[in-house]
Amino acid sequence: DIETVFQTADAASIQHIYKPRKPFSHKGSYGHALIIAGNTGKMGAALMAAHACLRAGAGLTTLNIPSAFLNAVHSHLPEAMCQLRENGLSFEKINAVGIGPGLGTGDDSLQLIEQTLNEYKLPSVIDADALNIISTHKRLSRLITPGSILTPHPKEFERLFGKAENDFERIDTALKKSAELNCVIILKGTYTLIAQNGKGWFNTTGNAGLAKGGSGDILTGIVTALLAQKYHPFEAALLGVYLHGLAADIALEKQSQESMIASDVVNCLGAAFGGLL
Ligand code: APR
Ligand code: MG
Repeated sequence: DIETVFQTADAASIQHIYKPRKPFSHKGSYGHALIIAGNTGKMGAALMAAHACLRAGAGLTTLNIPSAFLNAVHSHLPEAMCQLRENGLSFEKINAVGIGPGLGTGDDSLQLIEQTLNEYKLPSVIDADALNIISTHKRLSRLITPGSILTPHPKEFERLFGKAENDFERIDTALKKSAELNCVIILKGTYTLIAQNGKGWFNTTGNAGLAKGGSGDILTGIVTALLAQKYHPFEAALLGVYLHGLAADIALEKQSQESMIASDVVNCLGAAFGGLL
């Protein structure tokens, strides 16, 4: 019956997932996140994902970007470190990966994704163009590390898993695929669904101010930061989606749904974490 399949991610259920920081901790306690994102014309996606990752508590955040954009990253996000894409990809000391925002779907990006799926053995957050590339090269889906978190919007979801007749069918497919792939699937929308092992949780936060480019990129950054902090992938997904929506709800205190932009939402993450207590 419906109650055994679906639950809601509300304040009460989220509160006991959240782990407050400990006084005798250091940056190593909170992990090192690597965001593999951005390409010519879509570097904003990489910047927003990394900004959100920094604001969601990762101990260290590194961006893998084309070298042409090194100055842009350092001047916008001095707290972030960079790996130059031309010099390859390194997972040394990395304990959470977020891949896909603004990456593009060219051959270089295909190689990056294939290398990540082959070499990086911990769960990662797979979004946007990383999902689109997996959709066009279906053999790659067999390389996804169990426990990884896929974050498709409905179109990306249908590219991956086929066209659905309606929302109900899409939700049903998400539940089934989460079990089949042994992954957490975040099916994004007004009531985002977090699916794991055939069960689903509907998020209760957020508003239509999030219906704007960049909102998805910051969700990727938030969930990657939570993985770096050693939240279990399912908990990282649930808490991340909840905080993302809560930050957008708090952003309405100073913005409207029309005026809010993704950076405003990132800047409200502080109040959102505060709101968990
Ligand atoms: N109510 C609540 N939340 C919403 C709403 C709404 N009406 N509309 C969108 N959201 C949330 C979603 O739940 C999701 O978390 O905003 C986020 C949007 O994520 P994406 O669709 O991935 O958007 P984003 O990546 O920022 O921008 C679109 O994705 O497919 C690519 O090429 C496309 O560049 C484009 C980009
Ligand atoms: Mg997106």
